[in-house]
Amino acid sequence: MAQHVLIVGGSSDIGKEVAREAIAIGHHVVLFVRDDTRVQDLAQAGATVIVGDAKSLEDMNKILDYYGTTPIDAVVHCVGSIVLRPPHAMKLPDFVEVLETNLVTAFITLSLIGKKMLKAGTGRMIFVSSVAASYGLTNHEAISAAKGGLEAMVRSAASTYAQRGLRVNAVAPGLTKTRLSESIRRSPAMEEAATQLVPIRIINEASDVSKTISWLMFDAPDTMTGQILHVDGGMSKIRG
Ligand SMILES: NC(=O)c1ccc[n+]([C@@H]2O[C@H](COP(=O)([O-])OP(=O)(O)OC[C@H]3O[C@@H](n4cnc5c(N)ncnc54)[C@H](OP(=O)(O)O)[C@@H]3O)[C@@H](O)[C@H]2O)c1
Repeated sequence: MAQHVLIVGGSSDIGKEVAREAIAIGHHVVLFVRDDTRVQDLAQAGATVIVGDAKSLEDMNKILDYYGTTPIDAVVHCVGSIVLRPPHAMKLPDFVEVLETNLVTAFITLSLIGKKMLKAGTGRMIFVSSVAASYGLTNHEAISAAKGGLEAMVRSAASTYAQRGLRVNAVAPGLTKTRLSESIRRSPAMEEAATQLVPIRIINEASDVSKTISWLMFDAPDTMTGQILHVDGGMSKIRG
């Protein structure tokens, strides 16, 4: 049966892959984006686009206005940013900005969309973390703090709503070939150095991450909640 799927950060390279997969199998997809020019192809393919800033409660409420009484079956939060700098060289506003973009927007999604799902008594929520939450990567303090907080929040929310029909999980990718990681992969030498950190020596394509998200949305058993699925070539767990 066609499901109603919301992607917050729907213009992200990973989010767009999720959207393509969901549209291809007949689901109704809504993309919440800052910049609708990045998702014109998906709009033409049938996605509904809502424009706004995920940090703004007022903008995020447009999503609830759009759905009205229609339930949201699954939400994916793909909003993210990265600033790699050691703490002694990072200005406080830059640190706060990373927390706001990666963690505060996830909380707004969790609280607003979770409240709507609670009324329906069912719903799946998927957040995107990072290997930086589990592995001490040089100069990643800000993003590690944000994604570590996100993973802890996911486990807590999974517990809070365990008996009220909500399933809350996260996917934690390692380095993935999207525009977000372009600065880390800007030269062949940098890409090679990053690849050498991965036990299987393979960097993710966006589709490796999106397939895992799609599985959590449509195919995972109802018993799966509070989990962090690591899509990182083993980086968070093994040496290789
Ligand atoms: N690529 C990697 O190596 C990697 C590794 C680990 C985790 N991740 C995570 O994967 C997720 C998706 O990232 P990606 O790799 O697909 O990169 P991406 O294409 O740069 O996606 C990031 C998205 O966040 C959106 N965004 C940022 N601030 C926003 C705001 N205030 N309101 C609405 N949207 C906002 C951006 O919108 P605009 O299109 O307007 O810029 C962009 O679509 C992120 O959570 C990221 O942390 C990525």
